[in-house]
Amino acid sequence: MTLHFSDASASARLPVSSRLEAYAATAPFDRPTLVIDLDRVEAQFRALRAGLGRADIHYAVKANPHPAIIERLVQLGAHFDAASRGEIELCLSQGARPEHVSFGNTIKRASDIAFAHNAGIGLFAADAAEELEKIAENAPGARVYIRLIVETSSADWPLTRKFGCDRSMALELLDRATELGLRPVGFSFHVGSQTRRAEMWTPVLDKLSGIWAAAQEAGHDLQLLNIGGGFPAFYGEAIDAPTDYAAAVVAMVEERFPGVPHLMAEPGRGMVAEAGVIACEVMLTSRKSDRDMHRWVYLSIGRFSGLAETEGEAIRYEFVTPHDGEATGPCILAGPSCDSADVLYEKRPMNLPLALKSGDRVLIRGTGAYTSTYSSVCFNGFPPLDVEVI
Ligand SMILES: Cc1ncc(COP(=O)(O)O)c(C=O)c1O
Repeated sequence: MTLHFSDASASARLPVSSRLEAYAATAPFDRPTLVIDLDRVEAQFRALRAGLGRADIHYAVKANPHPAIIERLVQLGAHFDAASRGEIELCLSQGARPEHVSFGNTIKRASDIAFAHNAGIGLFAADAAEELEKIAENAPGARVYIRLIVETSSADWPLTRKFGCDRSMALELLDRATELGLRPVGFSFHVGSQTRRAEMWTPVLDKLSGIWAAAQEAGHDLQLLNIGGGFPAFYGEAIDAPTDYAAAVVAMVEERFPGVPHLMAEPGRGMVAEAGVIACEVMLTSRKSDRDMHRWVYLSIGRFSGLAETEGEAIRYEFVTPHDGEATGPCILAGPSCDSADVLYEKRPMNLPLALKSGDRVLIRGTGAYTSTYSSVCFNGFPPLDVEVI
């Protein structure tokens, strides 16, 4: 359903399709603002939970750490994947129980490990011997899972290379953890963020299930498989519905890791992206000469003020403008800062209405994840992305 919502401003008609967009289209904002609909977060959580079945959901706080989101998810019984002391403190301050928070970053400060341990957190990730030594020293006896490297990914935002270790090192690390007095409970991996279709998990699961089997053969009593995130959001390209997607992934996991005692998943993007919309405005439209074929459209938000995932044009957001339905043409879409890297889409230009002009309010859909925390504090004097919750 498309509601045409009128207001008195120059951007009189924005075709909105939800309560969230209606609010973002008309509320007064003095700077680019992310509006989050908490009920949408709840709906996504329920949809994912329905598909994930017996897997515990540890929300990846990094996707959007707004306290109201954490509070709602605590009420719904979610668990949390924290990347830092700050995220742990946030979860605990919103009522999460420490035994429901895992410290999932493979790169942790020793003092943060000690803080987590003293706060009652008992589950940590590692992908290197040195990290295990830090954990053993600062959280003696803790449970640890070893993150496995995912070498190829069909994700739009892959997490290959930087994280995880290979098969032989993974087995060594299980032994090393035991030697250090830790409790190695299993493995984790991340298929890559924004993996649009469940079947794209197949090659990754096929490869990693061999490591699970090898560890069992070597006598390790594996208890936990953490399947990470990767659950997609709708950015205009078809994706599976969340429950179907999650159920298909769990079915593939159960088939390849038979009898795994405990499953956990860490959705971030899939939980919050569609619950957010950014309201911003057109700052300028221009061409570089009278003969220039390229139209430039500059928005009040850019790469440094929340849209970092346009890096490599990886995530292509959907834009809603007051001229939707009128004639369109390609444009190079850029942010407002005095930095030539602050260009959002150029290799694959965006098709936007030719009538767009400065002052028009523009909504950017699917921006609830990985936006507000990527926003710089005052680059070029622009304040960070504001956030409102409805
Ligand atoms: C360890 C870990 N778990 C979960 C996530 C969330 O991934 P996604 O947003 O794709 O669900 C991330 C994202 O970077 C991560 O690093």
